[in-house]
Parts: sequence; C-alpha cells; structure tokens
Amino acid sequence: IPVDPFDLVVFGATGDLANRKILPGLYRRFFSGQIPEGARIIGAARTEMDTAAFRAHARAAIDEHVGAGKRNAAQIEAFLNILEYVPIDAMGEGGWNELKALVRPQMINAFYFSVAPALFGPLAERLHAFGIATSQARIVVEKPFGRDLASAKVLNTTLAEHFDETQIYRIDHYLGKETVQNLMAVRFANILFEPLWNAQFVDHVQITVAETVGVGGRGSYYDKSGAMRDMVQNHLMQLLCLIAMEPPYHFDPDAVRDEKLKVIRALQPVSAADIVRGQYLAHRSDDGKGHQPGYLEDAENPDSRTESYIALRVHVANWRWKGTPFYLRTGKRLRARTSEIAITFKEPPHSIFDEADETWRENVLVIRLQPNEGMNLKMMIKEPGPGGMRLVQVPLDMSFAEALGEDGADIPDAYERLIMDVIRGNQTLFMRGDEVEAAWAWTDPIIEGWTARGDRPQGYDAGSSGPEDALMLMHRDGRRWREIR
Ligand code: BG6
Repeated sequence: IPVDPFDLVVFGATGDLANRKILPGLYRRFFSGQIPEGARIIGAARTEMDTAAFRAHARAAIDEHVGAGKRNAAQIEAFLNILEYVPIDAMGEGGWNELKALVRPQMINAFYFSVAPALFGPLAERLHAFGIATSQARIVVEKPFGRDLASAKVLNTTLAEHFDETQIYRIDHYLGKETVQNLMAVRFANILFEPLWNAQFVDHVQITVAETVGVGGRGSYYDKSGAMRDMVQNHLMQLLCLIAMEPPYHFDPDAVRDEKLKVIRALQPVSAADIVRGQYLAHRSDDGKGHQPGYLEDAENPDSRTESYIALRVHVANWRWKGTPFYLRTGKRLRARTSEIAITFKEPPHSIFDEADETWRENVLVIRLQPNEGMNLKMMIKEPGPGGMRLVQVPLDMSFAEALGEDGADIPDAYERLIMDVIRGNQTLFMRGDEVEAAWAWTDPIIEGWTARGDRPQGYDAGSSGPEDALMLMHRDGRRWREIR
C-alpha cells in the first residue's frame, strides 16, 4: 500500500549507513510500489557535490546492496529521479536556505539524522532557525543514543527544545526485524503460549545475537563502546522487553512502550558474578586467508579493555518473572551469524514413562531472528516402532519462507520497514525518550562496576562460541547454552 507523498531529508546521505541501508532500502520500497509519485528524497551532507553526482552515488549503493532480482534499469532510473542533493554545513549557515527551498511544507516532512549524535542538536536547531521544520515534521535519530544516562538525557533535552516527543523517532533497527514483530503476534494473537509465559512454567530464556564479523574498519567507534553499549543496551534489551512485557491494552505506540518501560524498570542490578566479557583473539587460519587480526589489533588499542563479547544473567524482578533467569549473550567473530530467542519450559511435574531421558523432556520454543527467520517448538513424542514407549524429542519447525511462500521469503529489511513507519507516523517500533533513559540507568552501574574493578575481558578464539567462562555462567545453574551454528 503506497504511503502519502513526502519529502524525506537524509542528513549524512553519503555516509556508511545511508549507503548500506537507507538508500538501498528506499529503492526497494520504490520497487515494491510503496513510494508514491511526488515523493522526494533529499540527500544532505558536508560533501560538495551536485544532484547528478549524488544520484550516481546512490546508483552505486543500489548496485552493491540490492539483490539482482530487484535491480531493474527503468525502476532504478525512476528512483534516482526523485533524489536531490544539497551540500550542507551542519554547524554553520551553508546550504540551509537551499534546503528550505526544496522542502515542501504541505507534504509529510521527515528528517533522518544519520550522523554522529554530536550533530543532533545543531541540526535540530537549524531546522527551526531556518523555518524548515513545521510542527508536523518528524525527525529520525540513529543509535548510539548517548553513551550513558547523562549524555542520553542531554540529547533528549536538546531534541525536546525543538521537537515534541510525538515527532521524534529513535531507531533501534532490531524492532524493524520481521521476526521481532512476530514475537508480539505469537504472544498476543495465540491463546497457546500466554498462559505458560511466566516463571511458573518457563525455566529460563536465552537471547543470543552472534556475529561472525569483527570490528575492523569501525574499531575507533567500537572501542569506546563495546558490546554492552553497542548491542545490549538497545537491541538485546528490546528483545528482552518484548518477551517479558505484559500484554498492552492495544497495539498502539504508547501502550506498547509503556509496557516495555515497565520491564526495563524491573530489571535487577547485575552482579559481577553474572557477567562474562570477552575479546576475540587473532587467528591464523589454514584456509588460505592467513592472519586474521584479533580485537586489540582491530581496535588499534593494545591496552583495550573493551568487550567484543558479553554474556549476562539477568533477572526481571516482577510478579510474572520472579525466579526465571534471562541469559543474554552477544559477540563478534563467533562461530556463526545467528540470532535467536529460546524459551525453555519446565519439565512436566511427574513422569509416567520409565524410559524417558530426563535431559530431553523440556519443551523449547525457539524464535529465529536470522538467518532463516522462523520458529521451532521442540516437543516430546513416542519414537515410532515396536520398541515400547520410548520418547524422542522432535521439532515442530516453521520457516517463514516455507510457510508463507514468496511473501515469507521477501522479508523487507528492518530499515525499510521503519522508514515507512516514520512516513506513516507510526511510533510503535521506535524507542521513547524515557525508555532509552531507563535502559541506560540499568546499563550504567554494570559498566561502572567492571571499570572500577579493572576487569579485563577474557580472550576467546575467533570462530568459537565465546569465552570459556560464559559456559560456567549457565553450568553452575545446571543449564547450558544452545549451540551457535
Ligand atoms: C548495530 C551494531 O547496531 O547492529 C553493530 O552497531 C552490529 O555492531 C549490528 O553489527 C547488527 O545488526 P544486524 O541487523 O546485522 O544483526
């Protein structure tokens, strides 16, 4: 369904995110017929270039990041024709009048700040000073939204000077992932799971976001951040919220965000014994690729204590979850790129079968975020054959691609979905200011704790499942991590 015509201004339009995600994503939406006639995308960045050069730049981004099946010469041409470019000085006066001349206030106006957070304030201020942003305008801001509670508060205050909360769209692209939204559908559109969705029946929850990439190329940003700030404070926290929250009264932006906020506020402080941090080690592979740098080399900081891996045991201190641990882990240069949430249910209270293998009796619901989005429910059945009542665990497996055919295989990228939500004016999948602050309020003491103790991350082999100590985090509770593969 096409959205209404809009002017979307992308600040930082020549940057990495615009190249990899925003421009290719907008093209894909155009290809799908969702971007209406009359819409315009205006790139704005410091680089001096004209619209023709920007279109060439966007063409290269599309060629590189859009699959061949969607690269249609006529469509690309038509898409490039809706692009404009203005060189702009975010901290000065240059380019702002030119931008004003391009933005049509009678349309939906959205301004995407794909820039460093230090520029959020100056951009917001100038959009107002030059009379470009109306009271209906929307701004989209990228993570990192601050690096601690204090800086996040400053950003929120700065933005609030110029924009109302209903105009601010804070992106966490994990919320745009199809399966993440499906979490809410699975929980609240089925009667099946919700009665069991609590500490009485759920033994524990594992949330894993494993990556194979290292931090090479973005080491200078990453080294100041680390896995806790880069992934846990936002992406993993959002996943945890969607698993743990109470049913909102309606699928409505504030109703959903109110419930998520309550979860974040209910998170208990995490003690040192419940945290394992790691750094990937250099690797010499036999596969001809030779030396692959370790974290310290990638970060260009031989003394770095920043973690490229973190595992945590987290408790949600409320009525529903008291006693059910949530184990979170995320890291770079691990064995496989895989993100999933696994909910392990408790064993039946009493076994009537003699031969049941005790370790296999738990039901596990696995929600696969990537790759091969889908769900898997592990169930016990009788092993076929005449060998008596022997039990075996089998998966009820559903991949979106198989279950939904073409629609399931053609899942839009998170950014595409989220940008279209901005144009539609739907804030449900964006973080509210108080949510971000609450997330930092929980994160800060954890980071302060290991900084004060002078903890060093444990080295782990590239291509492994992470540091040895992370295994202990679960072993000592009589549980184990699911394999990363
Ligand atoms: C980003 C982080 O927010 O998310 C990156 O800054 C990380 O470090 C990325 O690689 C992971 O996103 P995805 O969609 O590839 O799982």
